[in-house]
Amino acid sequence: MSLRPFYVVLLHYPMVNRNGNLVTTAVTNMDIHDIARSSRTFGAKGYFIVTPIEDQHELVGRILAHWRSDHSREYHPDRVEAVSLVRLAKSFDEVKAAIRAEHGEDPEVVLTDARPFPNSISYSDYRRELGRPDSKKPVAICFGTGWGISDVFYPEVHRILAPVYGPEGAPREGVAPGYNHLSVRAAVAIILDRLFGQ
Ligand SMILES: C[S@@+](CC[C@H](N)C(=O)[O-])C[C@H]1O[C@@H](n2cnc3c(N)ncnc32)[C@H](O)[C@@H]1O
Repeated sequence: MSLRPFYVVLLHYPMVNRNGNLVTTAVTNMDIHDIARSSRTFGAKGYFIVTPIEDQHELVGRILAHWRSDHSREYHPDRVEAVSLVRLAKSFDEVKAAIRAEHGEDPEVVLTDARPFPNSISYSDYRRELGRPDSKKPVAICFGTGWGISDVFYPEVHRILAPVYGPEGAPREGVAPGYNHLSVRAAVAIILDRLFGQ
C-alpha cells in the first residue's frame, strides 16, 4: 500500500503529434470521467487536467458543472464522487504549486510512456518504494495525449515507469517490441492497479 499521497496528471501540452511536432491537444470528454473513476478507485488525492487553452477550460468547466449539479448527485452519485477529484490547471507549474501548497513540498514527477527508456523503474520496484515509511513526498503520475509527452517535459521528470507490455513483450535483441499502444484511459487504469491495487 502506498504511504505517499499521489495525483494523476493528464497533460495536453507539451505533446507531440504524429509528425513529432510540439502541439497542444484537445481535451476528450471520456478522459474526464473515465480517468476520474480510476483515480477515485485507486485512491488518488486529485486528478489534474492540464491545458493552456482558455476555451478548453470553459468547456471542461461546463462539463464538470453538469456532473456537480443536484440532478447528477441524485442520479449518478458514483460518477459525481469520482468527478469531484478533477482539477483544471493551465500549466504543469500550476499543478506543482497546488501540490506544494497542500503538502509543503514539490511532487516527485513520474513519467509514463509506451516506449522504453534506459533508466526506467519496474512497477514492482516503484510500488515497494511508495510503501516505504520513510517518505511522505507527494507523487504526480503524468500521462500523455496525442502521440505522447514531448521531450521538452523531461527536465521536470524524476522517475520513469517501464512501459506496459502484453504477451508480445519488450524489444529484445533482433526482436521488435510487441504492440502496446494503449488508450490513455486504459494505461491509467492498468498503471494505477499495478502501483496501488490489491
Ligand atoms: C500517447 S497517449 C494516446 C492518447 C490517445 N489519443 C488515446 O486514445 O487515448 C497515451 C498515453 O497513455 C500512456 N500509455 C499508453 N500506452 C502505454 C504503455 N504501453 N505503457 C505505459 N504508458 C502507456 C502514456 O502516458 C501515453 O502518453
